Amino acid sequence: MAADEVKRLGVVGAGQMGLGIALVAAQKAQVPVTLVDSSQASLDKGLEFADKLLEKDVSKSRISQTDASDARSRLEPTTNIEDLSSADFIIEAVPEILDLKTSIFSQLAKIAPSHAILATNTSSISVTKIAASTTPKDNPTDLSAASRVISTHFMNPVPVQKGVEIISGLQTSQSTIDRALDFVKRMGKIPSQSADSPGFLANRILMPYINEAIICLETGVGGKEDIDNIMKNGTNVPMGPLQLADFIGLDTCLAIMKVLHNETGDSKYRPSILLGKMVDAGWRPTVGEQCETRPTDQHSLRQECYNCIFTVADKVGNKSGYATSALTMFCGVDPTSVSPTKSTCVPNFGTIPASESDEESGHSPDRDVYISNCLSEVSKQARTSNLNALGHRQGADDD
Ligand SMILES: NC(=O)c1ccc[n+]([C@@H]2O[C@H](COP(=O)([O-])OP(=O)(O)OC[C@H]3O[C@@H](n4cnc5c(N)ncnc54)[C@H](O)[C@@H]3O)[C@@H](O)[C@H]2O)c1
Repeated sequence: MAADEVKRLGVVGAGQMGLGIALVAAQKAQVPVTLVDSSQASLDKGLEFADKLLEKDVSKSRISQTDASDARSRLEPTTNIEDLSSADFIIEAVPEILDLKTSIFSQLAKIAPSHAILATNTSSISVTKIAASTTPKDNPTDLSAASRVISTHFMNPVPVQKGVEIISGLQTSQSTIDRALDFVKRMGKIPSQSADSPGFLANRILMPYINEAIICLETGVGGKEDIDNIMKNGTNVPMGPLQLADFIGLDTCLAIMKVLHNETGDSKYRPSILLGKMVDAGWRPTVGEQCETRPTDQHSLRQECYNCIFTVADKVGNKSGYATSALTMFCGVDPTSVSPTKSTCVPNFGTIPASESDEESGHSPDRDVYISNCLSEVSKQARTSNLNALGHRQGADDD
């Protein structure tokens, strides 16, 4: 079965990744999507977010109203997993919990058509382990479902990030790999392939880099500004490793380092002690404390921030996706309260100097200076209260 024969996509989990995957598939691959979530509230929230993204695309003349309406009509929400019985390709995006994923895959093996690809969006769990959950207990050599299990590891935010990591388990067939590669391309993404090894490629490379940066902070090799600045200015990455760690979420960074360490047994993956302590402390950025609805746990905080990225990028005249992402991440923005003439999203930083025409062109020098000033201030404050809080506290104690 070729990619263009995928007539219906199924997505399990309508959180930040699942919703993004469903929307991009509805827009780019133009397939109907059965969007399953066990929580009606998550479905409602996800679809509300999809509406906002589509409205924004229309208002910016990136797509027509008809295209937006067509894409939206392709999203078919349900709380009943049995509705996946007609999906040709299913992508699971529920939380990173092994038992939850294996329970879903054992159900999918029974519900989905016998040709359907069963993909997971896992960040770190072994695809081979997930595939094994589809094998009938009374017939362990029956790989008819396991051979169709694969990982399509989309990156966050899905509408923005082009790369998708394709990871095959021990049981995955070549035809499954080929079909997954084709479908991901049909979604407008650029796939790369990795083996089923802890961290796969993206996190195997990225996380030790971030962890090493935190160890450098922990052991005094460099201060927080120097660590981020040398990597930003010396290797041309858009944000330094410490800032990126805050953006991803320290809990996520720690979880992935633990997978790398536990599953390889290699001491080179030992998570930084400071990273563990920061997660134990549960600190969070405080810049947006004026925002009364700011969530307190890291997971909800990230979810809220990702939801805001697109809105804020519009409002402040986006010059750099990373810049506005960071701005959003650290401000606790209420997207409905942000306006180009108000400073709601960045308390105490003054009025955003912009007119509608500046916003459209994105070329206002005043605006660039403003955003740059805000970012450096926000970043400084956020990281004071987040990753670098300990360094600051130690500095204060020394005084
Ligand atoms: N967030 C990221 O940056 C990121 C990046 C790449 C990969 N991933 C991976 O993607 C997956 C999903 O992450 P997320 O950030 O979207 O999580 P999320 O918490 O935002 O969303 C998960 C959704 O799954 C739903 N859910 C929970 N149990 C369910 C069930 N039994 N049946 C149906 N729905 C159920 C929840 O209601 C929620 O809406 C994880 O495996 C994660 O590791 C996340």
